[in-house]
Amino acid sequence: STWFIALFFAVFQLSHGTEVNVTNKDGKLCLYASLTVNFSVEYTAAGKVSSATFGLPSNVTTTGSKCDNTSSTLTLNFGAGHSWSINFTVNGKNYQTDTITFSYNLNDSSLFPNSESNETKSVTAKPQITDIGLGTCYSCKSRDLIQADLVNMTLSDVLIQAFVSNGSRSENETICSADVPTTTAAPTTTVTNSTSTPTTPPTTTPTPTLPTPTTGKYGVKNDANGTDCLLATFGLRIGFTQGEEMNFEPNGTKASGSCGTNSSELLLVSNDITIMFTFISDSKKFRLHALNVTTHAHHIKLLLLFPLFYLCVNTNLSLWEASVGSSYMCNKEQNNTITNLLSLYTFNLQVQPFEVKKGVFSTAHECSLDDTSILIPIIVGAALAGLILVVVIAYVIGRRKTYVGYQTL
Ligand SMILES: *[C@@H]1O[C@H](CO)[C@@H](O)[C@H](O)[C@H]1NC(C)=O
Ligand SMILES: *[C@@H]1O[C@H](CO)[C@@H](O)[C@H](O)[C@H]1NC(C)=O
Ligand SMILES: *[C@@H]1O[C@H](CO)[C@@H](O)[C@H](O)[C@H]1NC(C)=O
Ligand SMILES: *[C@@H]1O[C@H](CO)[C@@H](O)[C@H](O)[C@H]1NC(C)=O
Ligand SMILES: *[C@@H]1O[C@H](CO)[C@@H](O)[C@H](O)[C@H]1NC(C)=O
Ligand SMILES: *[C@@H]1O[C@H](CO)[C@@H](O)[C@H](O)[C@H]1NC(C)=O
Ligand SMILES: *[C@@H]1O[C@H](CO)[C@@H](O)[C@H](O)[C@H]1NC(C)=O
Ligand SMILES: *[C@@H]1O[C@H](CO)[C@@H](O)[C@H](O)[C@H]1NC(C)=O
Ligand SMILES: *[C@@H]1O[C@H](CO)[C@@H](O)[C@H](O)[C@H]1NC(C)=O
Ligand SMILES: *[C@@H]1O[C@H](CO)[C@@H](O)[C@H](O)[C@H]1NC(C)=O
Ligand SMILES: *[C@@H]1O[C@H](CO)[C@@H](O)[C@H](O)[C@H]1NC(C)=O
Ligand SMILES: *[C@@H]1O[C@H](CO)[C@@H](O)[C@H](O)[C@H]1NC(C)=O
Repeated sequence: STWFIALFFAVFQLSHGTEVNVTNKDGKLCLYASLTVNFSVEYTAAGKVSSATFGLPSNVTTTGSKCDNTSSTLTLNFGAGHSWSINFTVNGKNYQTDTITFSYNLNDSSLFPNSESNETKSVTAKPQITDIGLGTCYSCKSRDLIQADLVNMTLSDVLIQAFVSNGSRSENETICSADVPTTTAAPTTTVTNSTSTPTTPPTTTPTPTLPTPTTGKYGVKNDANGTDCLLATFGLRIGFTQGEEMNFEPNGTKASGSCGTNSSELLLVSNDITIMFTFISDSKKFRLHALNVTTHAHHIKLLLLFPLFYLCVNTNLSLWEASVGSSYMCNKEQNNTITNLLSLYTFNLQVQPFEVKKGVFSTAHECSLDDTSILIPIIVGAALAGLILVVVIAYVIGRRKTYVGYQTL
């Protein structure tokens, strides 16, 4: 099975928050919101300044929310007369937030114990949430502190779509700049389609062609007696769908792993890429079965779409197959599609994950790419031999005919 794991999306969704669907008068979804809001409110209790902290509960009502073509309001009412509201306006092809209004009832002794006042107070703030593409969700996992008079509101894990047009929430997202993990000039917003393959980021600069990657030599030692039980030699390059490529740097790479009878593992950890190769053996043949690539190389733009790192796993591969007791070798450049986001290029490859004897590679089984160079002369030779045979047969038949002819005369 092939997975693309935006692991952290899943983790964030587990955090407690508030989710609401606001429908219009036709009963169709017009505004969607899922978010976490933590409040910190200063108030006077028994003559002293006190502070109350609480979160927006998951049980809210949306009375007071409304959807129009150019302006919409989300109102979340909770507890004993409190409400949190945010309104949105359309601005060309984008939309933006206008005002956050928070009303809190100081008479609610569960949140504001010993409050001297019993009034309902209201504060407003103008959050800087702009340029959200129409037809996309605004997504911001990072914390955003909004201060309004005596109230601090911390927003996190926000996923909001206002102006929903076709009755269902968009898969495309406008990601806030705080979620983009770079210090270099990054676009403030990146539009992506979250459920499946992310779309190509808007800025595509042609990538310069890379030099052939350095060939690295790696080994895994047997626990019992410290002899090599897995050997691998190769140069690696990783290609991302949208054209970006990076070479794997052997210098500084740490190799580790384990050897078993049916399964062996090689773990390579370099500065910016971690790769786990899992080989399996059915006692006759071995093959590369699973590959787990994790990278946090910031220069790969695809990574901008993922909060912390990019992870790619395929556990259903059948690559580098050879007999147990031999090694697999492929000197030519090999291009293997691992997932639809990632390709793995190998150069000067030789691996032996099982039954390494005396710390050296056993007889090599050459890859089919190399075989074709041997196959071509064989095919040409066979064709020539066939041609000669046809000529000989034709000659013999011709001779016979003439002989038969002479006899009748
Ligand atoms: C909102 O709608 C989505 C899609 O129909 C649904 O999965 C989700 O449970 C709804 N959430 C709430 C709070 O009603
Ligand atoms: C909100 O409050 C909860 C409970 O106190 C805490 O676990 C969480 O980290 C807070 N979130 C933010 C964004 O401050
Ligand atoms: C709001 O946050 C600021 C900065 O962290 C802090 O100085 C202030 O005391 C906070 N106010 C409240 C009401 O928590
Ligand atoms: C949700 O809130 C309403 C009113 O605020 C209350 O009647 C209801 O019991 C609450 N439900 C849960 C599951 O807390
Ligand atoms: C948003 O709400 C604020 C406060 O309720 C209000 O002053 C403002 O006019 C509203 N904006 C729009 C576009 O409706
Ligand atoms: C609010 O407090 C004032 C005095 O501080 C009191 O007169 C009034 O009855 C209180 N109202 C409620 C609803 O408790
Ligand atoms: C969402 O993304 C898809 C490509 O993944 C694109 O075809 C579509 O137009 C986008 N929708 C919007 C509303 O931007
Ligand atoms: C997201 O991408 C998938 C596959 O590329 C596509 O089927 C789907 O329509 C896209 N969603 C949107 C909203 O464009
Ligand atoms: C080291 O141990 C492995 C497995 O335990 C064994 O197959 C191998 O023969 C041993 N090598 C030496 C040199 O003892
Ligand atoms: C490996 O890296 C170190 C430090 O970055 C450098 O000094 C050394 O020359 C490099 N070795 C090779 C073979 O490139
Ligand atoms: C892939 O590797 C990462 C870290 O290197 C690890 O957290 C994750 O569990 C691995 N996934 C699989 C399916 O092995
Ligand atoms: C490698 O394979 C992928 C997928 O088949 C393809 O898109 C890419 O162009 C290939 N790269 C080279 C250098 O052949």
